[in-house]
Amino acid sequence: MKAYIVKSIGTADQLQLVDIEKPVAANNEVVIKTKAISINPVDAKTRDGRGVYNWIKDENPLILGWDISGEVTESKSPLFKVGDEVFGMVNFPGHGKVYAEYVVAKADELTLKPSNINHEEAAAATLAPLTVWQVMVDNAGIKAGQRVLIHGASGGVGHYATQIARHLGAYVIGVSSEKNKDFVLANGAHEHVEYNDLSKLNELTNIDFVLDAVGEKDITELSKPVVRGGKIISIVRGNISEEEQAHAKSKDIEAKFVLVKSSGNDMGTIAGLLQKKIIKSHIFQVFDFEQMADAHRQIETGRTVGKVVVKVQ
Ligand SMILES: NC(=O)c1ccc[n+]([C@@H]2O[C@H](COP(=O)([O-])OP(=O)(O)OC[C@H]3O[C@@H](n4cnc5c(N)ncnc54)[C@H](OP(=O)(O)O)[C@@H]3O)[C@@H](O)[C@H]2O)c1
Repeated sequence: MKAYIVKSIGTADQLQLVDIEKPVAANNEVVIKTKAISINPVDAKTRDGRGVYNWIKDENPLILGWDISGEVTESKSPLFKVGDEVFGMVNFPGHGKVYAEYVVAKADELTLKPSNINHEEAAAATLAPLTVWQVMVDNAGIKAGQRVLIHGASGGVGHYATQIARHLGAYVIGVSSEKNKDFVLANGAHEHVEYNDLSKLNELTNIDFVLDAVGEKDITELSKPVVRGGKIISIVRGNISEEEQAHAKSKDIEAKFVLVKSSGNDMGTIAGLLQKKIIKSHIFQVFDFEQMADAHRQIETGRTVGKVVVKVQ
């Protein structure tokens, strides 16, 4: 089968399409014929030696990718049978090996693809909305009526975050550039703030929860509009300093970094939201499998609106 390996860490040119053995399923695993893959910033970061590179650098060959939608061709699990259409985030933050025509995955990291969406929309709705669910529900426990501020509201994570926060009953304020204002509002934000409009940003108050999906502001800056007892979760700043923590604590604010983890249970929840049209994937651009390097170059612009997807077969 065809798969992309990382020749050595560096630019998108390091992605090399090669022929390797098709994987086989062990107990409680399935083999999936890949239909679509979604591309995340962590794919490009890992390719150039950041992201989760240090955790998987000894794997050989190194095959990037975690987000898949496809069809089960072999099953050693009671959860799925051959022919089932499934989607999920495979083995994150480990070695996902999704940039391939066939992928082996733990069955309990997957769920059935809703019949009302295609494989591209399903592949998109894996790592990004899983992150939002684990952040907003499991970690922040967002309640109806709370005021939620989302930095990076137009991106892959942000556009699901806006929809999910709205679904949870929050009052949602989305921050993005002016050109993406209509998109952010269309996803359900009650208010939009342009990120260069410092006076409007400084006027914000009474925020119960901040999602930082950008990483440019430190916790001290992010905490300015947050109420006592409020929460800040950054999915980008893995290195919150003791000084930032002390500042947050002095204002009775909880600040932390959260890293998404594979979960078939959470994927089941996401599938339900997609099935009921409570959330929808916005696909910015679909690339062919042969254009993987171009898909990486797009995600590296930092200007993607919604998700980048690669179609496989
Ligand atoms: N910890 C975790 O588990 C986890 C999970 C998922 C993602 N992440 C990280 O979260 C970050 C976002 O991921 P993503 O998939 O959403 O990326 P993405 O799709 O590439 O985000 C692109 C979006 O970011 C917006 N943006 C750029 N600078 C901004 C700013 N200063 N203020 C507000 N918006 C800004 C852009 O909007 P404009 O074009 O309008 O500027 C664009 O729409 C990445 O660093 C990623 O690695 C972490």
